[in-house]
Amino acid sequence: MKDGHQRIPVITAYDAPSAKIAQLAEIPIILVGDSLGMVVQGHETPIPVTLEQMIYHTSMVVRATTTPLIIGDLPFMTYSISVEQAMTSAARLMQEGGATAVKLEGGQSHAEIIARIVSAGIPVMAHIGLTPQSVNQLGGMKVQGRDLDAARRLLLDAEAVQAAGAFAIVLESMPAELGKMITENLRIPTIGIGAGVNCDGQVQVWHDLMGIFDDFVPRHAKHYADIGTTMRTALRAFADDVRAGSFPTEDHSFTMKADVLSALTLNGTEPHAGD
Ligand code: KIV
Repeated sequence: MKDGHQRIPVITAYDAPSAKIAQLAEIPIILVGDSLGMVVQGHETPIPVTLEQMIYHTSMVVRATTTPLIIGDLPFMTYSISVEQAMTSAARLMQEGGATAVKLEGGQSHAEIIARIVSAGIPVMAHIGLTPQSVNQLGGMKVQGRDLDAARRLLLDAEAVQAAGAFAIVLESMPAELGKMITENLRIPTIGIGAGVNCDGQVQVWHDLMGIFDDFVPRHAKHYADIGTTMRTALRAFADDVRAGSFPTEDHSFTMKADVLSALTLNGTEPHAGD
């Protein structure tokens, strides 16, 4: 797609219904991101997310889809302790979760790990810039690569993961100019999120794109729908109907055959001894 100058849309999804909708919308790549720690589990960061949880959510997305590429995210500290640990975690995400590829955060620091996972036959997507698993080291969810040294480091990180065999790279929260330079410098596609208009593709978090929350909208996100309001309106209408006795109606009820009903007495419903 990069060679053909086709921009690549990528969406996160964490469960079967969303994945099915993404497939119907002809989204070619679904990322089961550890952002689920924030948007599904209600944490402040993705750090508490476990490999078991990623396997669980990835398997739901895989079950619901046939056409998109499904990438499973390796969560915090499941790939940084040793090459062996990283390979085992990646293998579990593939074998138990059913992912076709894995994503991990890190640049030069993780080049060896990427190379070993790739050499085992597992496609790896890299992720540099704002790497949310390192939020405590970065001092918050901040734009990265703004000064000369940091920008040079990110250029080298991008080259390192490409040389290690990554098939694509997420560029998160960096100046658009840097996103453009990295994109032009690499053969592999860059998938941006807050990395400007020149990346080869763009990834968005499901809940941000759908407008599920309105208390915080990241600068890099755009609400393509207002599903949060739609859901709240529906729930209020449901609660009002229940309180007013106008839901359910006979249309939503089941009936019993007249002869069964007439034979039914309280005593008659008592189970026979031995049943
Ligand atoms: O976890 C995630 O959803 C991600 C994307 C935002 C790139 O890493």
